[in-house]
Amino acid sequence: GAMYNKAVIVFEGIEGSGKTHHINLVSNYLKKKKIDHIKIREPGGNKNSEKIRNLILSNKSNFNKNTDLLLYLAARSENIEYLKKYYKKRIILIDRFIDSTIAYQHYGMGVDLSIIRKINNHLIKNFYVNFTFLNTVNKKNMKIRLKKRKKLNRYDLFDYNFYKRVQNGFLKIAKKNKSKYQIIDSNKEIKVNKEIIINKIKNFIT
Ligand code: TMP
Repeated sequence: GAMYNKAVIVFEGIEGSGKTHHINLVSNYLKKKKIDHIKIREPGGNKNSEKIRNLILSNKSNFNKNTDLLLYLAARSENIEYLKKYYKKRIILIDRFIDSTIAYQHYGMGVDLSIIRKINNHLIKNFYVNFTFLNTVNKKNMKIRLKKRKKLNRYDLFDYNFYKRVQNGFLKIAKKNKSKYQIIDSNKEIKVNKEIIINKIKNFIT
């Protein structure tokens, strides 16, 4: 039997941590098993939030940290109706969610945590994440992976200390709620992690 019915599963981690690769891996696995599911990313997801995403991440933008926070939350606000529509009806896979806001805007940029929580709670009432894969990466591999990208956006260009604070922030969040997080060390071989992730996903399938 399943541990959860139609779980909400989030993939988190800094740039180059392999989270997008891993969410696609899970999505393809579910497709192969003919299990209906939703896959979205944040910021982004639907038409309106993709518009906000382009605005935030454009290299032509230079908003301050509070504006960034409000834009990320605005993008989430535009996703939440869609997410709620499928909540508990289908498995939902999300590429970044609330933890990214806490890790980047609070731990990375120093925005007050209580204001982040307050607006988040207001937006997402009664929508709960069941499980999170937190993907981690070291400095060397992160740099190698970013170098391979054709286009770097505004959030790919911070100095490494920023990402280090963000990753440590993610790890702090995960430590507070160990049973709901699986840390994936993306410095390891892809094959090893694939097995860990798929084995975990089997718990979420009826
Ligand atoms: P992506 O490259 O994984 O699509 O994410 C875009 C960037 O947005 C990434 O650098 C993390 C950042 N981000 C925040 O800073 N706060 C948030 O709340 C979210 C969802 C993303």
